[in-house]
Amino acid sequence: MPLLFLLLSPLLFFASPSLCAPFELPDFREAPAFRNGPDCSPDNKIHIAMTLDATYLRGSLAGVFSVLRHASCPESINFHFVATSSPRRIQHLRRAVLSAFPSLVFSIYRFDATLVRGKISQSVRRALDQPLNYARIYLSNLLPPTVQRVLYLDSDLILVDDVAVLWSTPLGPNHVLAAPEYCHANFTSYFTSTFWDHPIYPSVFTDRSRQPCYFNTGVMVMDLHKWRDGDYTKRLETWMEIQKKEVRIYELGSLPPFLLVFAGEVKGVEHRWNQHGLGGDNKEGLCRDLHPGPVSLLHWSGKGKPWLRLDNSRACPLDALWAPYDLLSRNGRDLLADV
Ligand SMILES: *[C@@H]1O[C@H](CO)[C@@H](O)[C@H](O)[C@H]1NC(C)=O
Repeated sequence: MPLLFLLLSPLLFFASPSLCAPFELPDFREAPAFRNGPDCSPDNKIHIAMTLDATYLRGSLAGVFSVLRHASCPESINFHFVATSSPRRIQHLRRAVLSAFPSLVFSIYRFDATLVRGKISQSVRRALDQPLNYARIYLSNLLPPTVQRVLYLDSDLILVDDVAVLWSTPLGPNHVLAAPEYCHANFTSYFTSTFWDHPIYPSVFTDRSRQPCYFNTGVMVMDLHKWRDGDYTKRLETWMEIQKKEVRIYELGSLPPFLLVFAGEVKGVEHRWNQHGLGGDNKEGLCRDLHPGPVSLLHWSGKGKPWLRLDNSRACPLDALWAPYDLLSRNGRDLLADV
């Protein structure tokens, strides 16, 4: 028995998670529990997909908190998290989610980064080139076939309104995807002159139902059945392969392929559901103001992230709206401050 113990103890020593390779996640405090109102039907589930990784974990958890906080039926929401981490790291991420939301209904799906790595070309900002940034293209493969509709949300946003309203956007018989569109944005500038001068490529936009307009891919309602039927993952991949192997047709990350496939075919959503650009541009991350009009969702797209600016005492005025959803624990904050 003592001998067995001696043989086992080094194993126990190395198996202890705190002593394993450095994958330290900060501590999060538990969010209050949210309960369904009397009018919630158990049959009406809302499916939300988000990514999960160590870098954006604090943002993802703040996003989840904001969804629950403003939902009329928070217990009817199923979260579908996508991660590229190893199975062991995914267990750490799972524990972090549970520490903040012990009764959350969620699954974590492992997205094989090698599926997409060879198709990513370098963009203007390194953070945009992470394989996880492309996971939204593969939701139809990752989520179970029983999930017909999913709301994809980026990890740098908060909702301040009931997600059920956005979720129930009618897609009709023809639309695969709904998102707020921005037709005043200069659509030409999202593609290179090589693209526009090409004999064939620009014709992709000629048969669209409506004028092709920019939309932000951080907030999208997607019909996964129609997506699979139309093999939209393959259509997006085709453009990524052209970009990687033939000619440089755009400078941003996962956004331009979405524009190439969906611009002019998107079901419009009120602008209040994606007040984007609060992170500033892709180079400097300067402070930005809200667009005019009502606000249901604030999105820190761009380089600046509210948690980093708050930690560095360089917060923009609107970052104060993100702070109440921050679940990083006091202890975790102190630890980070020491680094
Ligand atoms: C739109 O962008 C293109 C390419 O960047 C530029 O040549 C064009 O002048 C812009 N149009 C307007 C109206 O700003």
